[in-house]
Amino acid sequence: MTVKVGIVGYGTIGKRVTDAIMKMDDMTLIGVVKQTPDYEGEVAVSKGIKLYTYEDKLSKFEKVGIKVAGTVNDLLRSVDVIIDATPDGVGAENKAKLYEPAGLRAIFQGGEEAEVAETSFNALANYDMAIGKRFIRVVSCNTTALSRLISAFLLHGYKIRRVRAYLVRRGADPREFKKGPINDVVFNPATVPSHHGPDVQTVLPTIDIVTMAVAVPTTMMHLHMVNIEFDGQISRGEAIKVLEETPRILLFNASSKKFESLAQIIEWARDMGRLRGDLMENAVIEDSITVFQNELFLMQGVHQESIVVPENIDAVRAMFKLSDKWSSIKKTDTALGLVSAGKNYNLT
Ligand SMILES: NC(=O)c1ccc[n+]([C@@H]2O[C@H](COP(=O)([O-])OP(=O)(O)OC[C@H]3O[C@@H](n4cnc5c(N)ncnc54)[C@H](OP(=O)(O)O)[C@@H]3O)[C@@H](O)[C@H]2O)c1
Repeated sequence: MTVKVGIVGYGTIGKRVTDAIMKMDDMTLIGVVKQTPDYEGEVAVSKGIKLYTYEDKLSKFEKVGIKVAGTVNDLLRSVDVIIDATPDGVGAENKAKLYEPAGLRAIFQGGEEAEVAETSFNALANYDMAIGKRFIRVVSCNTTALSRLISAFLLHGYKIRRVRAYLVRRGADPREFKKGPINDVVFNPATVPSHHGPDVQTVLPTIDIVTMAVAVPTTMMHLHMVNIEFDGQISRGEAIKVLEETPRILLFNASSKKFESLAQIIEWARDMGRLRGDLMENAVIEDSITVFQNELFLMQGVHQESIVVPENIDAVRAMFKLSDKWSSIKKTDTALGLVSAGKNYNLT
């Protein structure tokens, strides 16, 4: 069986998920919905991707000569599931207006409230909770990275007493030319806890976690400073081993390999030929890993534009019961070219 997938919202996340779907042999991309006739639509058509738009936008596409395969309703009639990657809040509107009336299944992104779906999702944390569900929400970039990190230790049998994380968020994505800050540090949000901690609890409900966040003038990555307190001892060597063998987590060494900044980590992804220079794994700074008795400290980089892409693919497999958790994670990682050497795809 291959699952027929449509994408609504072809921006930062939507275009990356589209490319990923096209790499999966158990999924077929039917097309994407765009509402603005622009260069991104033109590029999509040149790659053989079918564009669909709203009835009242058809003439705009025609006017600038961008070929459209049909209306949104045509797409909805042709797919098994929609992956909605529209801006925050639009997904919930689309659910009520489009997907529910059409009797369709849908996957939403982290900008939606958790209530939009039956379950919030992170593959390492709670794949099994999403099996067979009609509506799934893939949690945001920051929540995905924190959930993977925490899950790494849980999956290795460690008991976590509490997590405290300080998030330095990128101000905007590279394509967002109207956003900032350009010379500031913004309390973003100014509340404690920031929404990220409670969001982690949507996939790991029993974890005691508090987060704080600021936004700074970079478009490259987020940086997390994380403190995990365990019930019992852990050594630095044990922590490194856990992270080395957990899928979707990479260690970057500052002293031996000269990874001294996030820019160099992104440069590595570019040099490795990753599509768009994306880095879908958590980038843990190995030298930052420090243990005082039962407390672990570390820093990790989070490539906000791409980190949720593997999870969107696994969410489709869980929804349609295509494979079990570890088969799906392995299949996704292999097809997307993530580092799989040395990773354990059989953690329980
Ligand atoms: N960017 C990140 O760092 C990031 C990371 C993780 C999760 N997310 C989440 O992913 C979701 C999408 O974010 P994004 O950054 O990809 O947004 P984005 O770059 O702004 O892309 C959203 C796209 O949706 C399209 N759109 C807007 N309204 C629409 C509608 N009514 N119907 C169909 N398409 C519509 C727009 O394209 P057209 O006008 O061309 O149609 C736009 O390009 C959000 O929930 C966000 O919170 C974002």
